[in-house]
Amino acid sequence: MKSFTVFVSGSGTNLQAIINKVKEGYIKAELSLVVSDNSNAYALKRAENAEIETAVFNFKKFNSKRNFENAILKKLKEKNIDFIVLAGFMRVLSPKFINKYPDKILNIHPALLPSFKGTHGIKDAYEYGVKVTGPTVHFVTENVDSGPIIIQKAVEIKENDTLESLEEKIHKAEHQIFPEAIKLFVEEKLKVKGKKVIIS
Ligand code: GRF
Repeated sequence: MKSFTVFVSGSGTNLQAIINKVKEGYIKAELSLVVSDNSNAYALKRAENAEIETAVFNFKKFNSKRNFENAILKKLKEKNIDFIVLAGFMRVLSPKFINKYPDKILNIHPALLPSFKGTHGIKDAYEYGVKVTGPTVHFVTENVDSGPIIIQKAVEIKENDTLESLEEKIHKAEHQIFPEAIKLFVEEKLKVKGKKVIIS
């Protein structure tokens, strides 16, 4: 069975959705480690409640990004991690790190890429006034928010939507498509061909 890790920095609602789907047997892989750069992340509590090992790497305690990433890589090697899921992890990984796991790092972004890249994907779409937005699951490559797209889900922005109601709808869609994408990956149904992901 493949073994994977989820990287988090915050609340961890996506992590929770993934934990639930692993428990149900929908995702047939072992979630063996949760990594965080933030010791206060509520996501760590969720992992502990599910009896999943956690590892915190406080960026400020390392004297370089390289050392920070090397410490994480060492831990992943120890745990025989096959692939990585970024679920609200607020740090950009270096090309060196990403190249250790080519086409093996999945990320979720809360907007329909390539629109509204960056850290405020929901707010930016809401303020722009688009009528449709929604989350994107993609492979991570050296360019942030630009890797091959696995799944997207359209979410309508209605006139009576507030930023909060939109956030709620986006998160609900995220909790659906992220486990779906992970399941497809685990079952080796995803093939990356250039910019495209072919789903078999
Ligand atoms: C999600 O909206 C995700 O798209 C973004 O960060 C947020 C994480 O939320 N990358 P949570 O910690 O899973 O609740």
